[in-house]
Amino acid sequence: MAETKFNLCNKPVVIDEWQQDDTYEGVYPKGARDKSAYFSPQSVEEDCLKPNFRYLFKLSRSWCPWQFWGEIIAYRLGLIMGVEVPPAHIGLSEKYSEGQIIFGALIEWFYNDKQDLYFEGGQFMVQFVKDYDRQRGSQHNFTTIAQLKNLSGFKEHWAGVFTLDCLTGNTDRHQDNWGLIAKGVRGKIIKEPTLYFSPAFDNGTALAYEIIEKNIDKYSDPVVREGYLTNPRRARHHMKWSIDGQETLNFFDFMQKFVLEFPETKPIISKHLNFNKAQVEEAISPLADAVSDATYCLSQKRLNFIIELIFERKELLKKALNI
Ligand SMILES: Nc1ncnc2c1ncn2[C@@H]1O[C@H](COP(=O)(O)OP(=O)(O)OP(=O)(O)O)[C@@H](O)[C@H]1O
Ligand SMILES: [Mg+2]
Repeated sequence: MAETKFNLCNKPVVIDEWQQDDTYEGVYPKGARDKSAYFSPQSVEEDCLKPNFRYLFKLSRSWCPWQFWGEIIAYRLGLIMGVEVPPAHIGLSEKYSEGQIIFGALIEWFYNDKQDLYFEGGQFMVQFVKDYDRQRGSQHNFTTIAQLKNLSGFKEHWAGVFTLDCLTGNTDRHQDNWGLIAKGVRGKIIKEPTLYFSPAFDNGTALAYEIIEKNIDKYSDPVVREGYLTNPRRARHHMKWSIDGQETLNFFDFMQKFVLEFPETKPIISKHLNFNKAQVEEAISPLADAVSDATYCLSQKRLNFIIELIFERKELLKKALNI
């Protein structure tokens, strides 16, 4: 059972008795989606939760209340692929918004803020690129990021994150959707702390979240489907390959360039791709029965569509990389 193997929780976690972390709003100005941070209680019933630990309760955009499932599915897919994603569970609150039941992703904090320091990718980009536009992120590119290539785990990190993003169709890995953690340095003076890449957080702009239920069938048309999966206008990583990048690379062309530049990553990517449908179905299918609320539920139709897309992208990637 996936549940025991991975310690997954297929029931919503009610957070109404959790302590809200008032510092969060001040530290992180509101992004695209509403969210708040909470601390789990000293004692937690669910095996998947850490006691007395900070979690982010992250809502969907209002027009697509199913979006939060993407964070949970990406976490489960990450477990299967061997790509680190912050644990994400089904969160439920009746207090977040007066008189309303709200479901969202309940995401485990990925560093210890009493001991570690976290730096957003954007903090590096502004150092490397003159006049970097952090609002639009239009200069976000991998060649610049590769200036960090001597950091420990650089190739493994990007091989994993790019593969996950490619399979989930994540178009939003912008400069502040990755970062580096300096462990154990808070309050200390350490000249050159060792930096570690953050896990792949913020996975909600992916997994066909933007396709409303009644349009899912349109993607059965092979032409529409192929365009959706490969047209670089939609199917591409947020970052360009190079700063002046005139190229129009889709996910798969980008991955080819990445492997050409760092050939050692091919076996790593290949390993991440070594999973089958039964594993994904076992881990993800229980989510379709987890919430019955008509607004928030993950429909069987959407779930099937998501799984199909993951496997079609996987095949396209294998073909592009000759794996
Ligand atoms: N699990 C986590 N642990 C620690 N910090 C986190 C976690 N998840 C998010 N953050 C921090 O909160 C910020 C906003 O969260 P996130 O990127 O998930 O939300 P968003 O609203 O979708 O952002 P965006 O504007 O990129 O769409 C992140 O950039 C990161 O700094
Ligand atoms: Mg973000």
